[in-house]
Amino acid sequence: MEIGIDKIGFYAPHMYLDMNKLAVERNVEPEKFTIGIGQEKMAIAPITQDSVTLAANAALNILDEEDKEKIDFVLFGTETGIDHSKSGAVYVHRLLGINPNARAVEVKQACYGATAAIQMAKGHIALNPESKVLVLGSDIARYGLKTGGEATQGAGAVAMVISAEPRVMRFEGPSAFYSDDIMDFWRPVYSDKAMVDGKFSNEQYISFFTKVWKQYKEKAGLSLEDFEAICFHLPYTKMGKKALRAVIEEASQSVQERLMDNYQVSTEYNRNVGNIYTGSLYLSLLSLLEEKEDLADGSLIGLFSYGSGAVGEFFAGRLQPNYRDHLFTEKHDELFGTRKEISVEEYENMFEETLPSDGSSIELDIDADPAPICLSGIKEHSRQYVNKQRDVSTLSGGDSR
Ligand code: COA
Repeated sequence: MEIGIDKIGFYAPHMYLDMNKLAVERNVEPEKFTIGIGQEKMAIAPITQDSVTLAANAALNILDEEDKEKIDFVLFGTETGIDHSKSGAVYVHRLLGINPNARAVEVKQACYGATAAIQMAKGHIALNPESKVLVLGSDIARYGLKTGGEATQGAGAVAMVISAEPRVMRFEGPSAFYSDDIMDFWRPVYSDKAMVDGKFSNEQYISFFTKVWKQYKEKAGLSLEDFEAICFHLPYTKMGKKALRAVIEEASQSVQERLMDNYQVSTEYNRNVGNIYTGSLYLSLLSLLEEKEDLADGSLIGLFSYGSGAVGEFFAGRLQPNYRDHLFTEKHDELFGTRKEISVEEYENMFEETLPSDGSSIELDIDADPAPICLSGIKEHSRQYVNKQRDVSTLSGGDSR
């Protein structure tokens, strides 16, 4: 049975910061951010967006009534979840009106969460071929103002429908994976900002990639020339290039050029959104699929997932016949085309404006946020979400259903 990605979409908040302007304010040469790190724009989440609303908005863009009926498993990969106990998946499940006879679970292992969710989804579909699984990767990356990681922040979500007989990409062949207990990036429960040993995390990312690539080649009997492109988890767009460079000399000159050219296309969306943690690899895949118009049906695409702490995995998918007909390119073009630039000062103010953490209630102005699904406040310790398209005024996590 073929199992893979039937639909894929993403959502990013409607505001962005120009990295050239951030560089000027931080007394850094703009080329450090735009070339050295490889980021042009950074999506900035208003206070009315969190990992739940970003994920729900991403899924809202791609699901139809049949999907909502057939989805019986919602898997939510995130490392910026909103509750230690209740999963973000349960909120998204309700906000989208998915079939109540479904499982809803959150998956955590840094930026690897959505990949773990995909592997679970494959098992679920293998046992239940009529089912569909909604896999979400949704995060807001926060390192802090004026920190080394500041230029690698971002916000957004990717939503994928995993099913049998998929229309976009079928997963093919083995997976190679590797885990080791390291402290390269983490976020203690008392902190809303990540801790990172930047240089060490870069080294580990490359080391994990070379290990799983070596293992994958042995398991699959394939080499670089078999791949039309390789997509990477992209905390910033230079990162995947460094990993690809570590193995690229295994290939002929023409294959090297093809992989490097396609790598560039696969970083386009990420370059303009920033780091979205769990969704980052799949945003890169989306960038390749939507931006490279001559990418042939049947192409084999490699996928490298890395979640600090750390777990790495390499696997592959083959593009289905007429896959382009099943993309949502116009919606994503519109999303990019309608974003609004904000100043560094506005970004700094928004960064400091956080939700109360002392248990008090708050009401938020959702009129300023064009997203269909927003966080409208906190009442009695429970986040209030609104799906404007369903014209629901205020709903909490279940008590006013
Ligand atoms: N023009 C072009 N390139 C420039 C430049 C300029 N004017 N100034 C600096 N650069 C280049 C550097 O040469 C370097 O390139 P290299 O990595 O290929 O050597 C790059 O810009 C970054 O410069 P560096 O001095 O290393 O930056 P930094 O000390 O501020 O750290 C990160 C960069 C990415 C480590 C930091 O932003 C970080 O910690 N990010 C979060 C961690 C992360 O994302 N880890 C990834 C694993 S998930």
